[in-house]
Amino acid sequence: MPNLHLPGRSYFYEDRGEGVPLLLFHGFPFSSESFWPQLETPPAGVRLIAPDHRGFGKSTAAQDASMEAMAEDGLALLDALGIDSAFVGGVSMGGYVAMALTRLNPGRVRGLLLVDTQSTADDDAGRAKREATAQDVERNGINGLVETMLPRLLSAGADPAVRSRVEKMMRAQSPQAVAAASRGMGSRADAKDILSRFAGPCTIVVGADDVVTPPEKAKVMHGLIPQSALEIIEGAGHLANLEKPEVFKALVEKLVK
Ligand code: MLT
Repeated sequence: MPNLHLPGRSYFYEDRGEGVPLLLFHGFPFSSESFWPQLETPPAGVRLIAPDHRGFGKSTAAQDASMEAMAEDGLALLDALGIDSAFVGGVSMGGYVAMALTRLNPGRVRGLLLVDTQSTADDDAGRAKREATAQDVERNGINGLVETMLPRLLSAGADPAVRSRVEKMMRAQSPQAVAAASRGMGSRADAKDILSRFAGPCTIVVGADDVVTPPEKAKVMHGLIPQSALEIIEGAGHLANLEKPEVFKALVEKLVK
C-alpha cells in the first residue's frame, strides 16, 4: 500500500492510472475512498494521485490540520514521487487545500480542478459553527455530524448504494481528525487573490443541486479566473464526482488534454 513516510507519521495515497498527474484532495469528513469511481476507472491519460489528509482514512494524524498543512503534505508527496508540476484539485474542503497549495507554490500547479467548493473564507458566524462542530465531535463522536450533513450531501435522486457508502465512510473517520479539520476550515484564508492571479487552465465543477457550496459559489470563482470553464452538473448534489462519475470523468479528460 502506498504510504509516504513523514517525520513521526505516515501519509497514505492512492496512485492509479497513467499519464498527466492529477493530485486530487478529498472533502470533509471523508477519505480518498470518496473518489472510488475515479480510482476504479481513472480518466484516460491521467495518473490520479489521491491522498488521505492527515488523520483521515489510512493516514496518521498530525497536530496542525490547517489547509496549508494539508497542502504541504501534498507538496511533499509530489516531491517524493518526483513530480515537478501537476494538475491539482479537490472536492469541497479538498478544493480549499488545492487553493492553499496554489498559494504556497503556484509553480507546481499546472492546472486547477475545483469541485463543489468555494473561494470565500468563513465569516465570524461560520467560524463559530466550525468550533461548535469540533467540540460536539470531540465530546460525542461523529454520529451527530453524520445526521446533520448526510441529508445535505447528495441530490434527492441519489443512488441509495452511493448514499450508504458515503455514510459508512463518514462514520469510519476519527473524531479527533474531524474536529481538527473543522477548525482548520474555519481558519482558512480567502482565496480570491490566488484565483485572480492564476493563469493556467482551470475547470470549476458544481452539482446543480449542491446546497453546501451552491452554483452561486462556483460562479464567483469562475468570475475570478477568466480562462476557467464552469461546468454545472445536472442531477448531482455536493459530491458530483460520485453522483455523475461519467460526466466528471469526461470533464477531467477535457481539462488535462
Ligand atoms: C466538505 O464537503 O468538504 C465540507 O462540507 C466543506 C465545508 O464544510 O466548507
